[in-house]
Amino acid sequence: MRRFVYCKVVLTTSLVWVLVDVFLLLYFSECNKCDNRKDRSLLPALRAVISRSHEGPGEMGKAVNIPKNDQEKMKELFKINQFNLLASDMIALNRSLPDVRLDGSAVVCPIIDVISDETFEYMAGSDMTYGGFNWKLNFRWYPVPQREMDRRKGDRTLPVRTPTMAGGLFSIDKTYFEEIGSYDPGMDIWGGENLEMSFRIWQCGGSLEIVTCSHVGHVFRKATPYSFPGGTGQVINKNNRRLAEVWMDDFKDFFYIISPGVMRVDYGDVSSRKVLRGALKCKPFSWYLENIYPDSQIPRRYYSLGEIRNVETNQCVDNMGRKENEKVGFFNCHGMGGNQVFSYTADKEIRTDDLCLDASRLNGPILMLKCHHMKGNQMFEYDAEYVGKWEYDFEKHTFLHIITQSCLTISRLEDGTYGPTVENCNSSPLQSWVLHNYTRQEVARRLYYSPTDYFL
Ligand SMILES: *[C@@H]1O[C@H](CO)[C@@H](O)[C@H](O)[C@H]1NC(C)=O
Ligand SMILES: *[C@@H]1O[C@H](CO)[C@@H](O)[C@H](O)[C@H]1NC(C)=O
Repeated sequence: MRRFVYCKVVLTTSLVWVLVDVFLLLYFSECNKCDNRKDRSLLPALRAVISRSHEGPGEMGKAVNIPKNDQEKMKELFKINQFNLLASDMIALNRSLPDVRLDGSAVVCPIIDVISDETFEYMAGSDMTYGGFNWKLNFRWYPVPQREMDRRKGDRTLPVRTPTMAGGLFSIDKTYFEEIGSYDPGMDIWGGENLEMSFRIWQCGGSLEIVTCSHVGHVFRKATPYSFPGGTGQVINKNNRRLAEVWMDDFKDFFYIISPGVMRVDYGDVSSRKVLRGALKCKPFSWYLENIYPDSQIPRRYYSLGEIRNVETNQCVDNMGRKENEKVGFFNCHGMGGNQVFSYTADKEIRTDDLCLDASRLNGPILMLKCHHMKGNQMFEYDAEYVGKWEYDFEKHTFLHIITQSCLTISRLEDGTYGPTVENCNSSPLQSWVLHNYTRQEVARRLYYSPTDYFL
């Protein structure tokens, strides 16, 4: 028994000594390389032993900082190939870079290439567009804005942070997918679920990226092969209402006022989704617009969302159901949203959905052009800052078109028709316009009691 205890003591002490030896060895071998005696410490050696594979210089793509004493040597070596040879010699031959899949809350999408549904021709998708949406909550591709180019320092191989995704193709960590509420089980069949998930990911602390080096081909069909009980519109409107009610706060007014007919669609119970939003402590929609999607078609700040009424004729600016690049018209005010909804924004744009009003010359038509956020609509090459901008005078109720220094009015156009145009400012009531904020309640009230249905 005593012999056994004795053995144990001997074994333990020798083990301790072996460890101490290993330690000292490491300590001195590491410091043979150090020019600076102050760098002598047991810690680096220890760290190197524990995790040499993940913490070498430059691991995970980090910058390599050259110690002060080596700066001169670094400069000398730099001259040979015009890059930091010293740093390049310090990093592992095969260093690891961050893997997007390991950041649990990053949801990543590929670039979606187009495979023709008729000929199966393959066409590469663009890395210069990203996901957005319009007031009607249709998913749309819009140009990647300059701020996102700048964030990536012009490197198009880096992932693009996208406000929304198309929804069919993405990769997500399974645990995270379940944690943030998978899909809204109250939605049916198809439509809106991609926006719902995009808003949810961003507002609840995740991120959504397009990895530009990843391409997946998709057969785009012209018509859907699924059947929609009650009609396609009915199903999509229901889904869109659910996402607007849960995620968009008061900005849902843009959706309801431009397509007031959807207010008739029953969207079921969203209380459990609101509980989810609360439990995950998700941020407001205004935060999303401000930080993730400042170039959104829905303005973060605006002076009005509603009709633009002419004081003299008592009629309203109306898009007359026309499209991009066509002229805007005017019509009796009906107060029921849809074609008569315009927003005068803090960026001084007069916009309806993703189209902005602009004029090119006196007595020319007022056209509806695709809005180019912050850059105007590029009708003029000069003064880009003022292109497509209008200054509203809250006392005189005039709209000054900044580039031409003329006022919005109703008058005879060059082609002989009457309509909105710009003329020299002259304080006539024809140049006076009243802006109005609609509420969704008042729009719904007028719509339900109206004998004619303008929208459905
Ligand atoms: C690079 O590192 C990875 C991961 O450790 C390994 O699988 C791969 O074989 C290494 N490649 C080379 C060329 O060393
Ligand atoms: C319209 O509503 C917006 C957003 O709530 C607000 O900032 C603006 O001051 C309102 N404008 C008017 C004329 O009431």
